[in-house]
Amino acid sequence: ISIICFTVNYACILCIAVQCMFDTTSLCPEACNCNDMDVFCSNSGLTYVPQILGTQLNRLDLQYNVISSIQPRSFESLKKLKELYLGHNRISFLVNQSFSGLSNLLYLDLNKNQLSSVQRDAFNGLVNLRKLRLSGNDVSYLPSGLFSDLKMLELLYLEDNRISSLSRNVFKGLGNLRELYLSRNNVTILSGDVFKHLRSLSDIQLDDNAITRIWNGNFLTLSELKTLSLSNNVITEIDSGAFNGLSKLKVLNVDGNRISAIGKQFLSRSLHLEEIDLSGNQIGTVEESALDGLRFLTVLKLNNNNLRYLNPGVFKTNLQLSILDLHDNPWHCNCGIIDLKNWLKSSSDRILTTFVKCSIPEKLKGMYL
Ligand SMILES: *[C@@H]1O[C@H](CO)[C@@H](O)[C@H](O)[C@H]1NC(C)=O
Ligand SMILES: *[C@@H]1O[C@H](CO)[C@@H](O)[C@H](O)[C@H]1NC(C)=O
Repeated sequence: ISIICFTVNYACILCIAVQCMFDTTSLCPEACNCNDMDVFCSNSGLTYVPQILGTQLNRLDLQYNVISSIQPRSFESLKKLKELYLGHNRISFLVNQSFSGLSNLLYLDLNKNQLSSVQRDAFNGLVNLRKLRLSGNDVSYLPSGLFSDLKMLELLYLEDNRISSLSRNVFKGLGNLRELYLSRNNVTILSGDVFKHLRSLSDIQLDDNAITRIWNGNFLTLSELKTLSLSNNVITEIDSGAFNGLSKLKVLNVDGNRISAIGKQFLSRSLHLEEIDLSGNQIGTVEESALDGLRFLTVLKLNNNNLRYLNPGVFKTNLQLSILDLHDNPWHCNCGIIDLKNWLKSSSDRILTTFVKCSIPEKLKGMYL
């Protein structure tokens, strides 16, 4: 009796063992390494998304392959997937429903592909996504409503593409977005209230684009914004109320543009500004009340501009100012500059100024103020 029992038990154990082995192998594609929760298939020469059937899967890594397209619903069975890495492939377009079913996905990485066309419903179903990386592609156009399902998205990376215009409702649905990266694109015009849906935005980077002008209303509704970066564009004009809605703004970078004057209304509502970089412009005048009320201003960069003269009265309310960069301006060292010289001297215990060198008259050229 005991032998029969043993045989029965043995047969059962064997059967279970075979069943388990069979399950594990069917889960893990040949090119990949797998454990219970993760599938790693990077750098495996994959040309397409392999069939993966792990309903409990947490993370799928398909980076550094040569995948060129994604079929609709490719990932539909991966209900619990949280992270999907598709960076460094050759994906050139995304069709509708590419990621449908991934309702628990938190992070989608499509960095460094060749994406030029993205259909409007490509990201549908990603209702829990927090972070989307689309940098380093060839995207020139984002359809209106593209992100409308991504209600939980917090971080959106779009740098290093060829985006030249932003359609009116392109950011619709992104009420939770905190950081938007658009540097190194080809944006020329910021139309009206293009950012109006981004009511939680705290950081926007628009460096190295071709923006020519900042209009009243461009940023009007961004009441949570803390950093606005517009470095290295071709901005010649900033409308007087352009930053009016930005009551929490702390850092403003407008360096490397073509601004010629700082008017009086331009910064007047952004009373929490701490750092302003206006270096590398063509600024010849700073109106007397331009910096009024900026009580928290600590860093102001006005170097590499066209200043010949500056009335130190402009800083009268900036009592926290501690770094003031004025070098590389064509300072005219005549009687008119004495006020500035005296003010710099009397504030030298509080304010660090880099060398202010005269450029006119000829006999004082190169002398320090
Ligand atoms: C993708 O979805 C959009 C919006 O639903 C639709 O207008 C478009 O025709 C779809 N494209 C394809 C190829 O099905
Ligand atoms: C940038 O956009 C302009 C028109 O807005 C176009 O003429 C130019 O070719 C674009 N440059 C790139 C690199 O896409």
